[in-house]
This record gives sequence, C-alpha cells and structure tokens, in this order.
Amino acid sequence: MAGRSRTTKQRAQRINLDYFKKSFALPLWKRRLSWGLVALGLLWLGWDALSGKHAYNAGPLSQGHQIVASNCQACHVQQGAWSMKARDAACTSCHNAPAHQAKQVFTPSCMSCHVEHQGAVRLAATSNASCTQCHAELKVKDGQTAFAKNIASFSQGHPEIVAMRPGHAVDPGTIKLNHQIHMKKDLRGPDGSPVQLECSSCHQQLHEVNSAKSLAPNMAPVNFEAHCMSCHPLVFDSRFKDAAPHKETRIVREYVVAQYTSYIATHPSAVHEPVRLNPLLPGRAIAPPPRNAQEWIAQQTEEAERLLWQKSCKECHQLTYPAPSSRPEVPMASENVRWMMNASFDHTSHQLVACTECHGQALSSQKTEDVLLPNIATCQKCHHEGQNAARAECSECHTYHDWYQAKPVRSTNSISQFAR
Ligand code: HEC
Ligand code: HEC
Ligand code: HEC
Ligand code: HEC
Ligand code: HEC
Ligand code: HEC
Ligand code: HEC
Ligand code: HEC
Ligand code: HEC
Ligand code: HEC
Repeated sequence: MAGRSRTTKQRAQRINLDYFKKSFALPLWKRRLSWGLVALGLLWLGWDALSGKHAYNAGPLSQGHQIVASNCQACHVQQGAWSMKARDAACTSCHNAPAHQAKQVFTPSCMSCHVEHQGAVRLAATSNASCTQCHAELKVKDGQTAFAKNIASFSQGHPEIVAMRPGHAVDPGTIKLNHQIHMKKDLRGPDGSPVQLECSSCHQQLHEVNSAKSLAPNMAPVNFEAHCMSCHPLVFDSRFKDAAPHKETRIVREYVVAQYTSYIATHPSAVHEPVRLNPLLPGRAIAPPPRNAQEWIAQQTEEAERLLWQKSCKECHQLTYPAPSSRPEVPMASENVRWMMNASFDHTSHQLVACTECHGQALSSQKTEDVLLPNIATCQKCHHEGQNAARAECSECHTYHDWYQAKPVRSTNSISQFAR
C-alpha cells in the first residue's frame, strides 16, 4: 500500500508499557473533576430535597396539567431522600382510568403512554408505539382473540371495517327503502311535481360527542313524520281530510273506527250508499248492503284496513300476522345501529367532503339490506403518516381505557393546594 513506511513491530515499540505506574496530569485531573462533580451534584440534590424547592425543571407540563404545575408533589412522590419519581398511584389519585382489556397480558404504566414535561397540547394523543407495543404482535391471556394480530400502523396490517368484510351480516334495519329511487332527479314530490331529494332531506347530524363505546347514533334516526309523510300520507278515505296516525295497528284501527262513527252520525243517509271499494285492491267479496250504522262502520273499517295494511303500511313495513285474520303487527324499525363497535367516528369532522364520497353506494342501492359504508381504504386516503394529512395515530380513532369500568375519584385535595 502506498505511504506505508513503518512495520507493525516498529509501531508497537512506541507504546509505553509502564504507563499505569506513572501519574500523568490529564488523567489525574479527569478523575479529580469527576469525583468533584458527583459531590457537587449530591450537595445540590440534598439541598433540593431539604428545601422542598426544585432547582431543576424537566420541561413544561401538558396544557391540561397547568393547574398542577406549581405542585410538583402532586405527581412526584418522595421515596427516600433522593428519589422523586412520578408514580401511577399519583395519577390515579386524580384520575380513574380503567385498564384496556380483561385479556391483556401486562399493564403499561400511565406515563409510558402519557409523556409529561413535553408541553403536550393533548396528553391523551398518545404515540403509535404505545399501542403497537402490543398490537404489532398481539398476545392474549387465553391465547384466543377475534381481533387482528399484526397491526404495525394504520397503513400496515390494519384490518377492514367489520361490516365491510366479505360475508358479514346485512343491514338489520326493517324499514324498506330504495335509496336509488329516492335520489333520482324526477322523483314525484308531495304535489306531484318532480323534486330532487338530498341526503340531508332524510339524514341529519346529531351534534353529540361520540366515542367508540357509546352506542349513540351518528345520525338522527329517520322519522316518518319528518321525512316520509309528505309524499306517503296514510290517507285511507277521500272523505276525510286527515290521514291515519302513524302508530301501532291497534291505534290506527281505533282511529279509523272513530272517524266512521262520527261520519255516520253527521251523515245518517250514508248507510244506504254502497261501501266504496278500492279499485287498486281486488279480491274483496261484495258484502251485502249494510242494514244499520253499526254494519256500515264495520264494512267501511274493513275496507280501509285492507288499503292500509295491504298497501300503505306494507310499502315500508314487512307486516306480520299472529293469526290469519288478525290485525297485523309492525316489526321494530331497528334503524340506526352504531356500525363500528371498535372505533370512533363523528360526522362533524368530515363535513369537508360530500356524503357520497364515503357512501357512494347510496346512489345505486335498491335494498335496505345493502350496507352503505366506506371501506377502511377510504379512511386511509386522508388519515396517513406524513404531511398534509389527517392524523393517523391509533389514539385518533380508538379509545384505550374501558371507560364503562370507571369508578368515582374521591379527592381529599383542597383548592388552596392549587390556588394562588
Ligand atoms: C402531572 C404530573 C406531574 C407534575 C405535576 C410534575 N411532574 Fe415531573 N414528571 C412527571 C412524569 C410522569 C415524569 C416522568 C416519569 C419519571 O421519571 O418520574 C416526570 C419527570 C420529571 C423529571 C425527570 C427526572 C426523573 O426523575 O426522571 C424531572 C426533573 C421533573 N419531572 C421535575 C418536575 C418538577 C420540578 C415539577 C414541578 C414544577 C414537576 N416535575 C411536576 C409528572 C409530573
Ligand atoms: C392533582 C390532580 C392530578 C394529578 C396528580 C394528575 N392529573 Fe391528569 N389531569 C388533572 C386535571 C385537573 C386535568 C385537566 C382536566 C381534564 O382534562 O380532565 C388533567 C388532565 C389529564 C389528561 C387529559 C388531558 C389531555 O391533555 O389529554 C390526561 C391524559 C391526564 N391528565 C393524565 C395524567 C397522568 C398520566 C398523570 C400521572 C402522571 C396525571 N394525569 C396526574 C389532574 C391531575
Ligand atoms: C397504552 C397507553 C396508555 C396507558 C398505559 C394509559 N393510557 Fe390513559 N389514555 C390513553 C389513550 C390513547 C387515551 C385517549 C383515548 C381514551 O379515552 O381511551 C387516554 C385517555 C386518558 C384520560 C382521559 C383524557 C381525556 O380525554 O379526558 C386520562 C385521564 C388518562 N388516560 C389517564 C391515564 C392514567 C391515570 C393511566 C394509568 C393508570 C393511563 N391513562 C394509562 C392511553 C394510555
Ligand atoms: C398491554 C397490551 C396492549 C396495549 C398496550 C394496547 N392494547 Fe389494544 N388490545 C389488547 C388486547 C389483548 C386486545 C384483545 C382483547 C380480546 O381479544 O378480548 C386488544 C384489543 C383492542 C381493540 C379491539 C377491541 C376494542 O375494544 O375495540 C382495539 C381497537 C385496541 N385494542 C386499540 C388499542 C389502542 C388504540 C392502543 C393504544 C392506545 C392499544 N390498544 C394498546 C392489548 C393491548
Ligand atoms: C327518503 C329518505 C332518504 C334519503 C333521501 C336518503 N336516505 Fe339514507 N336512509 C334512509 C332510511 C329510511 C334508512 C334506513 C333503512 C336502510 O338502511 O336502508 C337509511 C339508511 C342509510 C344508511 C345506513 C344504512 C346502511 O346500510 O349503511 C346510510 C349510510 C345512508 N342511509 C346514507 C344516505 C346517503 C349518503 C344519502 C344521500 C346520497 C341518503 N342516505 C339519502 C332514508 C333516506
Ligand atoms: C319527495 C317525496 C318522497 C319522500 C320524501 C319519500 N318518498 Fe318514498 N317514494 C316516493 C315516490 C314518488 C315513490 C314511487 C317511485 C317510483 O316507483 O318510481 C316512492 C316509493 C317508495 C317505496 C317503494 C319503492 C320501490 O322499490 O318500489 C318505498 C318503500 C318508499 N318510497 C319508502 C319511503 C320512506 C321510508 C321514506 C321516508 C324515509 C320515503 N319513502 C320518503 C316519494 C317519496
Ligand atoms: C313511507 C314509509 C312508511 C309507511 C307507509 C309506514 N311507515 Fe311506519 N315507519 C316508517 C319509518 C321510517 C319508521 C321508523 C321511524 C319512525 O318511527 O318514525 C316507522 C316506524 C313505525 C312503527 C314503530 C316501529 C318500532 O320500531 O317500534 C310503527 C308501529 C309503525 N311504523 C306503524 C306503521 C303503520 C301501522 C303503518 C300503516 C298505517 C305505517 N307504519 C306506514 C315508515 C313508514
Ligand atoms: C383513521 C382512523 C383509524 C386509525 C388511525 C386507526 N384505526 Fe384501528 N380501526 C379503525 C376502524 C374504522 C376500525 C373498524 C372498526 C369496526 O369495524 O368496528 C378499526 C379496527 C381496529 C381494531 C379491531 C380489529 C379487528 O380485527 O376487528 C384494532 C385492534 C385496531 N383498529 C387497532 C388499531 C391500531 C393499533 C392503530 C394504530 C397503529 C389503529 N387501529 C389506527 C380506525 C382507525
Ligand atoms: C369520511 C366518510 C364519511 C362521510 C363524508 C360521511 N359519512 Fe356517514 N358514515 C361514515 C361511517 C364510517 C359511518 C359508520 C359510523 C358508525 O355507525 O360507527 C357512517 C354512518 C352513517 C349513517 C348510518 C347511521 C348511523 O348513525 O350510524 C348515515 C345515515 C350516514 N352515515 C349518512 C351520512 C350523510 C347524510 C353524510 C353527508 C352529510 C355522510 N354520512 C357523510 C362515513 C362517512
Ligand atoms: C376527506 C378526508 C377524510 C377522510 C376520507 C376521513 N377522514 Fe377522518 N378526519 C379528517 C379530518 C380533516 C379530521 C380532523 C382533523 C384531524 O384529526 O386530523 C378527521 C378526524 C377524524 C377522527 C377524530 C375524531 C373527530 O371526529 O374529530 C376520527 C375518529 C376519524 N377522523 C375517523 C375516520 C374514519 C374511521 C374514516 C373512514 C371511514 C375517516 N376518518 C375518513 C379527514 C378525513
């Protein structure tokens, strides 16, 4: 090799083999200084412990904890003369934050996730690592879990929304609704002229804070009176201005009977008019002409109910008949379930895009049983790592604590501990 002028042996001869016997100036001062500094540090810490004041600060507390900032002991509990470590017991004296899952194999300390002294705007906005320490390779006490086991980040290994997985159960709602028909441009409106409905004609946002474990619906439930009645009135006889009430069939029957009873009282001669048969509903045997008001009311009611049960109600409800000739029953509407049991979602934060960006199928869906939700890939378009994106930390969309298990906190602190 060019420039190599000495052999290894020659170089070895330069090393002083007695170096440890002599006392050189530089190493000596190094040693003296280090012992000196340790002593100084101990003195400082001793003064710190004795005075109860703090000679050092680790950085600003999170915004939520500013009220506690003048009270270091609220979190730093004295343990012996030197140690002032913050302990979980201090946190739980002010917060009851229940554990995450019954089947988790260990419980991380509070401060491993909620990192203090960083001036955090939101201490609860924990890092991905606080979750992926378990979720990247999920272990459960009994080894059995229904949940995805290898979630490295929101973009890596994160599962699909349950309701959108192949083979998942259909929409359990029982109100028949053809979204496609109702979104068409020339839908016949209340007065017969064409109207263009919008999603918000039937769906209005609820302004409530939603979390994954609250079952509060995201959208106000669709309601017959407000959203359907104008075009689907429950008219049963053109002689009456008012339509039947939208109630259970027993009440509808009572109403219909009451209407005919008062009609015949004011129009006694109507007994001799034949019962008006509905041309849209074939199949009824012509009954013998009514002999009195009682029979007239019975026949009119039967005909009105034929229209209501077999046409009006049936358009939107799958009626059930407990016995062949009995009054039908209306099943529970079962609309507005929370679709996602394992994640939060609030429409208010998502008004920046059109409804159909996430619910595109609503324009072509013809059956109630269709599930009209977006895929997780839709969420990932906006929520991802890097800049110009919505947050993609697990804590953005999930709760950690099982808040249903929370117990009341019984503080013994006084205001003066925190006041000026
Ligand atoms: C809301 C709770 C809380 C309050 C109030 C608080 N701290 Fe802390 N502090 C913590 C946590 C959590 C840690 C990290 C865990 C640990 O090491 O103790 C920490 C760590 C520190 C550390 C790092 C040293 C070490 O032990 O690792 C110092 C120094 C410190 N705090 C000083 C202070 C001082 C001074 C005050 C009062 C002005 C204060 N803290 C108030 C929660 C708190
Ligand atoms: C002396 C009482 C007290 C102690 C001790 C305390 N906190 Fe708090 N904490 C509060 C108060 C007050 C708030 C503000 C009100 C709120 O948001 O609930 C708060 C807020 C929070 C929040 C929510 C606010 C945010 O920024 O997301 C978290 C998370 C939290 N504390 C965690 C902790 C942890 C972890 C510890 C222990 C290191 C701790 N707290 C110790 C009183 C306390
Ligand atoms: C594995 C990480 C992790 C651990 C460990 C953890 N937390 Fe949390 N904590 C979170 C996340 C994420 C949230 C926000 C979502 C939620 O409410 O569950 C949160 C929320 C909170 C809140 C409510 C904040 C708010 O929105 O008002 C408090 C208070 C809190 N934690 C205190 C604690 C205390 C006390 C401990 C220890 C007993 C603890 N946490 C342990 C991750 C953690
Ligand atoms: C100590 C380990 C551990 C940590 C840390 C942890 N998890 Fe979990 N998590 C589990 C286990 C175990 C399960 C599955 C429980 C089961 O199968 O019954 C689970 C289940 C879940 C579920 C599905 C069930 C549900 O309640 O919705 C979500 C979502 C979840 N974790 C989110 C998080 C988030 C977000 C964090 C971080 C703030 C986190 N986890 C941190 C162990 C952990
Ligand atoms: C005429 C009223 C009406 C209009 C207009 C309407 N909906 Fe609906 N929507 C309903 C009713 C009733 C239900 C419950 C029955 C069902 O699930 O189909 C429903 C259910 C839904 C559901 C939840 C059910 C599922 O399976 O996912 C979504 C999502 C939805 N609608 C989105 C939309 C969107 C987006 C629009 C606009 C493009 C829209 N709807 C327009 C009446 C309406
Ligand atoms: C703006 C008027 C209007 C509103 C509001 C309206 N509908 Fe309709 N609906 C119609 C018209 C018109 C038809 C017949 C359309 C056709 O067959 O072309 C219809 C048809 C239907 C049908 C039968 C569809 C089919 O597949 O044949 C059902 C079921 C229905 N509507 C349910 C509802 C429900 C439930 C609501 C309230 C959530 C509602 N509609 C609100 C105008 C409306
Ligand atoms: C145009 C569609 C439409 C027609 C026609 C209709 N309903 Fe409904 N019905 C609804 C909707 C939407 C709901 C759920 C929201 C509400 O309660 O308003 C509902 C709910 C109900 C409920 C409550 C079910 C529950 O969850 O307990 C009863 C009872 C009911 N309807 C009875 C009737 C009867 C009886 C008729 C015929 C006389 C009728 N409905 C006709 C749309 C309709
Ligand atoms: C932008 C929102 C968002 C973010 C960020 C996010 N998730 Fe999810 N997560 C969801 C949604 C939506 C679901 C589906 C919930 C459902 O179907 O009930 C889900 C489901 C889950 C489940 C249930 C899994 C199963 O098999 O059913 C776990 C566990 C989970 N997420 C963990 C995480 C972890 C860990 C992170 C961070 C690395 C994370 N998530 C980040 C939205 C999010
Ligand atoms: C960013 C995507 C996104 C946008 C934009 C969006 N939604 Fe949703 N929507 C969802 C998700 C996710 C759910 C399921 C939430 C749950 O129930 O857990 C949902 C649920 C619903 C439901 C079911 C009812 C319920 O309470 O769960 C209706 C109805 C609905 N959305 C209508 C709308 C309407 C109307 C708009 C426009 C104003 C809209 N959505 C905009 C994602 C979106
Ligand atoms: C058009 C872009 C966009 C899409 C698509 C989108 N988000 Fe968001 N999301 C946002 C923005 C913007 C915010 C508020 C700012 C932030 O948190 O970064 C937000 C906030 C959130 C929050 C925080 C809580 C809240 O409501 O403020 C959750 C949870 C969430 N999104 C879940 C989802 C889920 C689940 C999906 C898919 C079904 C989704 N997002 C799809 C843009 C989007």
